[in-house]
Amino acid sequence: VVRTDKSSMLYWWPKIKDLGVPKPKTVIVEINLNETEIEGLCDGHTKPLLDKHGQQIKAAIDKFGFPLFLRTDLVSNKHGWKKSCYVESLAQLPSHVGNVVEFSLMCDMMGLPVKALIFREYVPMKNLFRAFHGEMPVNPEIRFFALDGELLCWHWYWIKEAIQQGTEPELLPKDWKKIIEVEKNSANSTGELMKLCAKAFRVAQKFKGFWSIDFCKAADNKWYLIDMAEGYRSWHPECDFAEMSNNPRK
Ligand SMILES: Nc1ncnc2c1ncn2[C@@H]1O[C@H](COP(=O)(O)OP(=O)(O)OP(=O)(O)O)[C@@H](O)[C@H]1O
Ligand SMILES: [Mg+2]
Repeated sequence: VVRTDKSSMLYWWPKIKDLGVPKPKTVIVEINLNETEIEGLCDGHTKPLLDKHGQQIKAAIDKFGFPLFLRTDLVSNKHGWKKSCYVESLAQLPSHVGNVVEFSLMCDMMGLPVKALIFREYVPMKNLFRAFHGEMPVNPEIRFFALDGELLCWHWYWIKEAIQQGTEPELLPKDWKKIIEVEKNSANSTGELMKLCAKAFRVAQKFKGFWSIDFCKAADNKWYLIDMAEGYRSWHPECDFAEMSNNPRK
């Protein structure tokens, strides 16, 4: 059993896919390729992928159109945004698959396995501004941690340091810190967070063990469940429970 098995969408998505909590519509294409064929994707050799899974991929594209959101069962390379998870056209798809797969193979010491390509409906999120080469939209996002079905803590995902470190200052709007503060204050004061906790709790109850549960706020102000992972391998901001996780920010 590989350490990352439970963090894979192949594990957690089926457990929550029918829960009445908003989530991006999702098509999972499990890939049955050998190591050489997976590495080949990084160099644009998509023939083995298309021979085996072209039909499923076409069905996903027909379902969502463009733009669509692409990731593996474990990662999206979100910082690369316009070259990775954000796919605007069919012509872009091969290079974006290559980018996301290559990123995955370079993660951690050993690289992460790529067991599936995940195609998702692109949900217009509540974009606050763009960071990381001015490309990736920073959205209101909250990460909960849960242990054996109980919520432990929650955190705004986009801490200022992460944005500052990853972005040339001249590409950020002058008042970006204020924009984040205003968003946090409004979520705090409207009772939105109480309702979100209730949703997170319903998700948490489906899982034993230690988990991170990520929600992102859409343009229509609905919070979408977008991602989960084992808690120990999830970035955890400073907090009493942070030492339960040992992962650097990703
Ligand atoms: N379906 C979607 N439509 C639009 N934007 C999305 C969608 N899913 C995710 N996003 C945006 O992309 C970012 C990365 O998504 P996701 O959490 O799936 O990737 P990840 O690589 O697992 O990230 P993390 O390192 O936080 O676990 C999110 O922060 C969110 O802003
Ligand atoms: Mg993730």
